[in-house]
Amino acid sequence: MPTIPAHAIGGVITGWGTALPSKIVTNDDLSKTMETSDEWIRERTGIHRRHIGGSTAELSVESGRIAMAMAGVSPDQIDALVLSTTTPDRQVPATSATVQNLLGLKCGAFDINAACSGFVYGLVVAHGLIAMGSKKVLLIGTDTLSRITDWTDRNTAILFADGSGAAVIEATTGPTQLLGWDLDADGSAEELLYAEIGGNIHMDGKEVFRRAVRIMVDSAQKSMQIAGVTAKDIALIVPHQANTRIISAACDRLGIPMERTSTVLHETGNTSSASIPLALFDAADGGPMSGRTLHEGDLVLVVGFGAGMTAASAVLRWNGKGLRA
Ligand code: ACO
Repeated sequence: MPTIPAHAIGGVITGWGTALPSKIVTNDDLSKTMETSDEWIRERTGIHRRHIGGSTAELSVESGRIAMAMAGVSPDQIDALVLSTTTPDRQVPATSATVQNLLGLKCGAFDINAACSGFVYGLVVAHGLIAMGSKKVLLIGTDTLSRITDWTDRNTAILFADGSGAAVIEATTGPTQLLGWDLDADGSAEELLYAEIGGNIHMDGKEVFRRAVRIMVDSAQKSMQIAGVTAKDIALIVPHQANTRIISAACDRLGIPMERTSTVLHETGNTSSASIPLALFDAADGGPMSGRTLHEGDLVLVVGFGAGMTAASAVLRWNGKGLRA
């Protein structure tokens, strides 16, 4: 488990933005085309509705622009673009290249695919770039899972949706916000959740559920241990927004009550790379969807899991708009 070197240059989120397509699909809409019901979907997943539409580049540009405007940085000041997505618009080039051009950035750009853990992977990579001298990194998590969902398969169509969340992370002279992190993967479980190139998602939902709880808890505990904190110190946990029952089982095992958990999945469904930033920045904006509010100095635990089977977590000291280098 890597610890953060005491003298590493730290980073801080200075701006954030989110984007959701305007088209809303409710559970009742789905029940018109497949054998399901609003009641079943709410009870078994916690999802009420989801947003569908747009391309990965379009949603990324929207959230990225908002994040840069909030941070007050111009496109030519960004040193690197990290785009987490499991649904790129093209196989080649990386969608980050399209986004780099549309945002007018003059820097390196690359995609990360760690499925629903991708934003946390990106968060760690962005801090690594800052430790190596980058001053400002734009991190975006975007997925358009609706494009790889079989809309006749009630096993998956009730879960997946589209969205984006972005953060400007800047080098700081003050204390770093990232206190501990953990990245995991278990490729031996890849058949549980996959999509062939050009194909739709296939999922063994029950087995994903079972493993998700275990690997989220395991990863979260590692990050907290590295950060030198315990569950009682965590003011807010921001888990991957897959299923309320998964979130509640994981929080239960971690000893973090649901009152200290940010969930937006009732409004967004599972948006993969966008799920954690949508729930994190909702709380940073006072909780219009989650009802949770982040305060300066709060300890935040972000934890995701996804295909691969990846898991990733990080403990952050929330100091949004904090000190820049
Ligand atoms: N509507 C109505 N009934 C349904 C539906 C549906 N959409 N889906 C299944 N059922 C029925 C089943 O046929 C079954 O009926 P039976 O008892 O008569 O056989 C019953 O409901 C229970 O089915 P289960 O599959 O046991 O339902 P479960 O409680 O496991 O919920 C779900 C299914 C929601 C898919 C759950 O397993 C889950 O959320 N798994 C995790 C999935 C996940 O998080 N994936 C994303 C990973 S992240 C990434 O990388 C994208």
